Amino acid sequence: MCGIVGYIGNKEAYPILIKGLHRLEYRGYDSAGVALTDKNGKLSIYKAKGRVADLEEFCKDKNISGNIGIAHTRWATHGEPSNQNAHPHYSESESIALIHNGIIENYAVLKEQLIRNGYHFQSSTDTEVMVQLIEYVKTLNKVDLCTAVQLALNEIIGAYAIAVVEKDNPDQIIVARKSSPLVLGIGEDEYFIASDASPIIEYTNRVIYLEDEEIAVVSRHEPPRIITIKNVEKTHEIIQLEMNLSQLEKGGYPHFMLKEIFEQPQTLRDCMRGRIDVSCQHVVLSGIIDHRERFVNARRIIILACGTSWHAGLVGKYLFETFCRIPVDVEYSSEFRYRNPVIYKDDIIIAISQSGETADTLAAVELARQAGAFVYGICNVVGSSIARNTHSGSYTHVGPEIGVASTKAFTAQLVVLSMMSLCIARALKTVDDAHFFRLLQELNRIPDKIEKILKLNDAIKNLSKIFTYAHNFIYLGRGFNYPVALEGALKLKEISYIHAEGYPAAEMKHGPIALIDSEMPVVAIATDNGMYEKVISNIQEIKARNGRVIAVVSENDTVVKSIADYVIEIPATEDCFDPLLTTIPLQLLSYHIAVNKKRDVDMPRNLAKSVTVE
Ligand code: M6R
Repeated sequence: MCGIVGYIGNKEAYPILIKGLHRLEYRGYDSAGVALTDKNGKLSIYKAKGRVADLEEFCKDKNISGNIGIAHTRWATHGEPSNQNAHPHYSESESIALIHNGIIENYAVLKEQLIRNGYHFQSSTDTEVMVQLIEYVKTLNKVDLCTAVQLALNEIIGAYAIAVVEKDNPDQIIVARKSSPLVLGIGEDEYFIASDASPIIEYTNRVIYLEDEEIAVVSRHEPPRIITIKNVEKTHEIIQLEMNLSQLEKGGYPHFMLKEIFEQPQTLRDCMRGRIDVSCQHVVLSGIIDHRERFVNARRIIILACGTSWHAGLVGKYLFETFCRIPVDVEYSSEFRYRNPVIYKDDIIIAISQSGETADTLAAVELARQAGAFVYGICNVVGSSIARNTHSGSYTHVGPEIGVASTKAFTAQLVVLSMMSLCIARALKTVDDAHFFRLLQELNRIPDKIEKILKLNDAIKNLSKIFTYAHNFIYLGRGFNYPVALEGALKLKEISYIHAEGYPAAEMKHGPIALIDSEMPVVAIATDNGMYEKVISNIQEIKARNGRVIAVVSENDTVVKSIADYVIEIPATEDCFDPLLTTIPLQLLSYHIAVNKKRDVDMPRNLAKSVTVE
């Protein structure tokens, strides 16, 4: 969480930094700040509690100028959102300023030592310890800023992406990273620094991704010098980004989330392009083909993920077990990493993460690697930490997902998992040819079917008005649609702040049915697939207790239509691809309820898009 951005060049830094902060605001938005060095070498910090817009308001009457600066948008970990806790932070003498994304685990010990040495703290953040430590080490050892950063980072335990500027050295930004992302943009006599490429792409598509424990010295007139915290010189390949600016704009939609929901037919086509051949006879995933033997001989698959990606993983379990007959465990990364799990060398670990930066998933991947397992990544962000720390993998290729609520990344994760399971099933011969071809053809038709569902947007918007003021919701599904029920509930919770629970429908009678009364909306996924009759019985049980049922049904359904209070009709598909369709109306329902409640849909309270702290 937190977004960091920096600029050094010949242009005015402030507008570039503010624009960059807006692009990174999805990473955190409880306070923001900038530090600039002007041409007289004066280092000034401006910061404000709230959004980037609040910082702009605060700065609007100030005479801010300078060609070098760093800026930060915060998601609070240590210390409440406030002006004092906002970044950048000054060192004791105010000659050094620093921004940070991550968590310093040993900050308390270091802080105590620094206080004993006469340092004073203005904030309750862990970050301030870093800038004070850098100044302390610099003064004590009489070294330059880069060496001081290097020495200080050797004392630090935790995760960091930092950018540091110094009053007496106004032609230099020092950056470093460990377990938090950092990208350098290479322009003509100008350099950019950011947590991801989105603030950079407008100016250059040439970037360098720093590795863990690397420091870069970024100066105006020479290429960045990269060294490790242990003083090893490094060289890095410059990577050409394929992102384009329009992917970072709302393109006429009121919110990124709605844009991303509507992009899904196209993003899923992009995800399948070159992987399913036109005649739908083959699925080609090089990440699997290159390691065919490992997959064929896998004892077990363990899927690691958090949040929405975990829900995708649960669908993955159903897919792999159905088609490949390989047992699958789906684990929350945060639990897996701390519970001494049994990992066999012939296990396949699949880590799913849109951002590729989720701290718990990254740590779980590391644990699995150390245990000797083969790790496959399903990530969206190209070059992200999880993508780089796995043995093999598949990108989802949906372009930047900016709305905090994951939508298009989720459906693309489902498509990748579907293609993976079919690819492995083919190698294992656990699915016969006719069935395999039929499934591939149907997967290929999914984008068209989603286009059809998106035409229901106005009807779902009208439906949402009936439920805007509900205090609770229950989502029910069975089989492949059980994870969709969980995902539907999560979408509603995170953007509308309405309490919602997802359940496997048959579990209701073991407790939750006690919650049902005429005030309780129940969203039931009741498409015409393997569990249809069973779900109908579950809906009857809800109706018998006066629950209000909104059912997602297959076109031409008559039975559920006659029982439910409201229905949303969607095209039929194979059981295994149902989640790709049933999830779409639930995304739209959550979106419209949140808009009706005037919630900040793209930046819901307390959340951040990329959870880089544990
Ligand atoms: O980037 P990741 O897929 O690893 O993120 C995992 C979760 O933080 C994420 O899915 C979160 O639950 C979303 N906000 C849900 O919409």
